[in-house]
Amino acid sequence: MTNAPRSRRVVVLASGTGSTLRAVIEAARDEAFGVRIVGVVTDKDGVGALAIAREAGIPTAVVRLADFESRALWDEAVARTVATFDPDLVLLAGFMRLLGEPSLARFGGRILNTHPALLPAYPGARGVRDALAGGAKVTGCTVILVDAGVDTGPIVAQATVEVLDDDTESTLHARIKEVERGLVTRTLGRMAREGWTVTGRTVRFGTAALTPDTPPPAPQEQS
Ligand code: GAR
Repeated sequence: MTNAPRSRRVVVLASGTGSTLRAVIEAARDEAFGVRIVGVVTDKDGVGALAIAREAGIPTAVVRLADFESRALWDEAVARTVATFDPDLVLLAGFMRLLGEPSLARFGGRILNTHPALLPAYPGARGVRDALAGGAKVTGCTVILVDAGVDTGPIVAQATVEVLDDDTESTLHARIKEVERGLVTRTLGRMAREGWTVTGRTVRFGTAALTPDTPPPAPQEQS
């Protein structure tokens, strides 16, 4: 018998190489981490994230935009697919599309995204390139709770990375990703184990009473 809290069910959405997904899968091998990755959803075939999930024996689904007549139908399909895994938390780990209203309606307040810049600076799909072009001396990564905007949700955690004079987008992104893997993993684990509260735009770990038998840590809005 163990006193570890019940593991939270996490679905990961990814579009890329999946190095963030791999870090989370590895952390979740320890039951005390408090996370069970119950599904991985991608928007593309043949991406690294799919191979990593399959190798780990995690159920996968691919929801391709091109298979749907409209973006709205794709948005619906993504939400429906994620829902089949019955997640407590949803993690966007390099998912390069905006989540639509159907996903926000079902999972809003418990969707995490990781972004390779220090938000609110350099939001969008080119956070690393834009930080370099903007002459930033320090950048980093940010974990946010997803809202309807582009990288505008409340900040949960951040870490910094120095920009070097000879950095290219690829060298800088590689260093950010090293830091980001740890940040995402630590943040997801804490949210799963401790819950969180959102007061205005401030996110804090911990809920009033989170015991092994409490339901998933739904965020508590405080005004
Ligand atoms: C990460 O750096 C993540 O922040 C970024 O994609 C990378 C995924 O790497 N996401 C975004 O830019 C979203 N706007 P991975 O596929 O190796 O995990």
